[in-house]
Amino acid sequence: MPDNAVDAVPFNPNDPGFQADPYPAYRRLRDEFPLLRGPLGAYLVSRYEDCESLLRDRRMGKDFANSKFFEQVMGEAGDEPPPFLGLGLDDWDAKLFMLTDPPEHTRLRGLVAQAFTPGVISGLRPSVAETVDELLGELPEEFDLMERLATPMPIRVLGRMLGIPVEDQDRFTAWSSEIAGLLDLDVELSAEAAAARRKAVAECTGYFLELAGRRSGGAGDDLISHLVRAREEGSALTPQEIAATCVLLVVAAQETFSNLLGNAAIVFARQPGAFARLAAEPDVMDAMLDEIMRLEPPAHQVGRIALEPIELHGQTIQPGDAVILLVASGNRDERAFTDPEVLDIDRKGPAHLSFGRGIHYCLGAPLATMMAREALLGLTGRISSVSLVGEEIAYKPGMGLRGPARLPVRVQKRVG
Ligand code: HEM
Repeated sequence: MPDNAVDAVPFNPNDPGFQADPYPAYRRLRDEFPLLRGPLGAYLVSRYEDCESLLRDRRMGKDFANSKFFEQVMGEAGDEPPPFLGLGLDDWDAKLFMLTDPPEHTRLRGLVAQAFTPGVISGLRPSVAETVDELLGELPEEFDLMERLATPMPIRVLGRMLGIPVEDQDRFTAWSSEIAGLLDLDVELSAEAAAARRKAVAECTGYFLELAGRRSGGAGDDLISHLVRAREEGSALTPQEIAATCVLLVVAAQETFSNLLGNAAIVFARQPGAFARLAAEPDVMDAMLDEIMRLEPPAHQVGRIALEPIELHGQTIQPGDAVILLVASGNRDERAFTDPEVLDIDRKGPAHLSFGRGIHYCLGAPLATMMAREALLGLTGRISSVSLVGEEIAYKPGMGLRGPARLPVRVQKRVG
């Protein structure tokens, strides 16, 4: 632990109290330690304005795998290589493009961006609505919302976009929850957990390498076939880059989107009036989704590596230092929002940080928003209220992403 880490701060992401409610700790960070070195040496940034500007700051990079921070953390964890995609796998040199800097990032993101334009997304809407109908079907009065809808939905949608056979899709749920732990920059990893993560990365990338191999020479209309054809026509991605990109898309969509639906259901259970309003006035959908994303974001933090010295709050972040931008804290910063704890769909104020900013702004944001709209329409069409079964919510482990692992709910079904 670095000498200047502050032990007295209530910031222990492994503490069940923090997991259950991280917001009081975020508030203390904002008020008393707006730039703080966390338990493993990464800087924590908690105010809206700081998170917003550092997200867009080109002096901040994302190549963690080659950073001083990872050398330090992994050195302390027993000289194991970081369980990052591309490291710990034999003969592998492709990275998740979310974890690269320009020009590599620009090249890799540019190739898949064509599959996520608003036009493509609106074309997918009918099939997404169909998926919601299939998954919800005739609802019982009690069910686990994560199991029924939030967990299977993203892999069904991404599976269709990528051309993953339906019978293989369920395997991705376990792989992506393992791999998503990569986002937990300041949570120490046991040797077993690191091994499990490396195994998931190896299996998932292996799956996509094999699938891309089978698409070679074909005329399919799915995204993998497009990427394979682009390669065969001389441009673009290596087979490993195609596999890494597919892993990124599935993992980035799976955990975040399932958290969004789970968190939305928790908000609606606690504030039945909000659900009733959404059902009565579907026009408020976008404002409601924005407010839920601000209040209960699926991803609580995003990480950066300083590329140059950065002065902030009287300290200097040095090149190679890791910086964690606590976007969930920024979203509730009283310096930026009036009554930030209140769900207010009429609020005028700055935009939430939950999809990020700048060159790494969430590529899937229009897709996630469209999927969330369809899911909520599916729910408001079938039920008039939702309540939680049981007192305690079982959150997924880790602090990078936040959403329930399971969410047993009781619903009031609409008649007729
Ligand atoms: C509600 C759901 C989602 C949330 C809250 C979310 C959040 C985010 C955030 C905060 C980032 C920025 C990371 C950074 O700046 O370091 C990001 C990037 C990304 N997201 Fe999402 N995401 C969601 C859904 C999706 C979906 C459905 C996809 C689709 C495949 C997706 C694909 C990506 C990709 C590829 C990136 C990397 C972009 C880049 O580095 O250039 N996300 N997401």
